[in-house]
Amino acid sequence: MTILITGVAGFVGSQVARALLARGERVVGIDNFSPYYDPVLKFARVKPLRDNKAFTFHELDIAEREPLLALADQHRDIDRIVHLAAQPGVRQSITDPYAYIQANVMGQLIVLELARRLPDLKHFVYASSSSVYGANAELPYRTTDRVDHPVSVYAATKRSGELLTDTYVHLYKLKATGLRYFTVYGPWGRPDMSPFIFAKAILEGRPIKLFHLGFAKRDFSYIDDIVAGTVAVLDKPAETPSHRLYNLGAADSEEIIHIIELFEKALGKKAVTELKPGEPGDMLETAADIAETTRDFGWKPKVKVEEGIPKFVEWFKAYNGL
Ligand SMILES: NC(=O)c1ccc[n+]([C@@H]2O[C@H](COP(=O)([O-])OP(=O)(O)OC[C@H]3O[C@@H](n4cnc5c(N)ncnc54)[C@H](O)[C@@H]3O)[C@@H](O)[C@H]2O)c1
Repeated sequence: MTILITGVAGFVGSQVARALLARGERVVGIDNFSPYYDPVLKFARVKPLRDNKAFTFHELDIAEREPLLALADQHRDIDRIVHLAAQPGVRQSITDPYAYIQANVMGQLIVLELARRLPDLKHFVYASSSSVYGANAELPYRTTDRVDHPVSVYAATKRSGELLTDTYVHLYKLKATGLRYFTVYGPWGRPDMSPFIFAKAILEGRPIKLFHLGFAKRDFSYIDDIVAGTVAVLDKPAETPSHRLYNLGAADSEEIIHIIELFEKALGKKAVTELKPGEPGDMLETAADIAETTRDFGWKPKVKVEEGIPKFVEWFKAYNGL
């Protein structure tokens, strides 16, 4: 049987694919190499996967209905889906909202249409986001909290994806699990996210903008923990058709100032910082309650930022030939 991974050239998708191939699974991966950030990094992530005979790649856009639904005939043996393809990025979603609806709402709908056509589908796992908690003031965030106030278009599209999935579970009796990821970082990470931006700015001696006047806090989650959590969830579908939601985060909200200090130490260079107010769409703090994820899957994050940031910096320097 075969696992379909959408967004397989992405940060999380490529490493989930690597982990599943390493334990002998067959994987069909799709990605459209979206130009949101440098596709060269995406090609580099996919290249080693393509050396594995158990891996098949299709360059496809999940928002293009016909070619995507054709996968149901081409790969009838797909029995699990890990749907990670998305248009990410909170800030850009405010200036270019259309791309987000296209990839994250239309795309989610079409992947769900594909899911319901697969005769042997056992589990549909997909990425949601901590951003759905939006304007919620009570921390840590729990999956039982109401999430009716997303503060960016990106967050609204991720919440829409959850709602559409709920409807498809109801209509077509799927077993679906949504994962609300919290700020994932680590080797092969995304150039639009803070760890990449911090490392680059420090090395180039450019100022780092500290939003919320430096008081922002984030639940930084190391990629290996997120991959282990995603695979653990994939391996344990619910017993009956249902839609479950889980937080996957480090459960250890860190002050951005502390993160900058760890970068300074790992890079051996001081950061120049500039205090800025919060920007529209930005959350002041994120923190995951992972009690249910631990209870149901035995999953607990292992890598603290003190260990993860030096590992990221090591990769960042090697990747950039520094
Ligand atoms: N990285 C994080 O901190 C984080 C946090 C919360 C949620 N998420 C979610 O996790 C998932 C994976 O995120 P990531 O960090 O790996 O992002 P990423 O951008 O690195 O990966 C997403 C991949 O999807 C592909 N893609 C985009 N639009 C597509 C389309 N229309 N058709 C086919 N492929 C398309 C991109 O080319 C990219 O390779 C996303 O759904 C994202 O919203 C990530």
